[in-house]
Amino acid sequence: MKFEYTPGANYADFASGHVLYSAPGHPAFPVRLSLELFERARLLTGRSRVGLWDPLCGAGSIVTTLGLARGEAITQVLATDISEAATTLAAKNLGLLTDDGLRRRARFLAERSDDRAEAAARLCKLRRGVQPITTTVSVIDATREVDVRLVALDGIDVVIADLPYGSQTVWTSDAGNPSRQMLEQLRFHLQDHAVIVLCSNRRADFEDLPESLRAFKHGKRIIKFYRADTS
Ligand SMILES: C[S@@+](CC[C@H](N)C(=O)[O-])C[C@H]1O[C@@H](n2cnc3c(N)ncnc32)[C@H](O)[C@@H]1O
Repeated sequence: MKFEYTPGANYADFASGHVLYSAPGHPAFPVRLSLELFERARLLTGRSRVGLWDPLCGAGSIVTTLGLARGEAITQVLATDISEAATTLAAKNLGLLTDDGLRRRARFLAERSDDRAEAAARLCKLRRGVQPITTTVSVIDATREVDVRLVALDGIDVVIADLPYGSQTVWTSDAGNPSRQMLEQLRFHLQDHAVIVLCSNRRADFEDLPESLRAFKHGKRIIKFYRADTS
């Protein structure tokens, strides 16, 4: 996959464990790739500003990075995961999307003369003047209809989901084919114009899935774009 909207640059300020919080067992996602996928999906929705949902949010690194870097294009962020530990960490990261949260993080790092303080100060500058983003975090099983039905999906236009790879994170689901089950739920409950991006390095995750709108490979990652179900 060629990067069309995200020039080669130093994205280290957004890296997990830098200003963003990280923890063992919560894998992060490449920053430049998340920016590129977001932009491609946003363009496919036809909207300039979109609501963003990560249903397998883990530490929330994708949505927090996008909120920091592309805040002007995001109206709201929804982050859900089946793991309570993951959502706790995601909520902490999403706290960085508020002026207060980011300033506190910058102050904390500066007071300790931490090398990362400069990065935090740069992010504060970047966020200055950008409209606040509403964030919601909750624990749900993205493969269960009863759970997905309870989520407020009005205003969600783009979904980006980094599927569990089977090493650091695994699916927790009763479904025989969790990725298919999740995609079916998302396509059924989202509005027609919404775009769903699934990423995985396991071909098996895409077995028996409906035909995608677009498909790419990036290194070992397989990336597929789907439209919500218009039938
Ligand atoms: C690869 S990680 C996502 C990492 C995340 N994209 C990030 O950037 O921090 C996959 C996540 O899927 C979650 N998960 C597994 N089964 C799930 C299910 N049925 N419903 C919701 N989340 C699930 C795991 O708890 C894990 O946090």
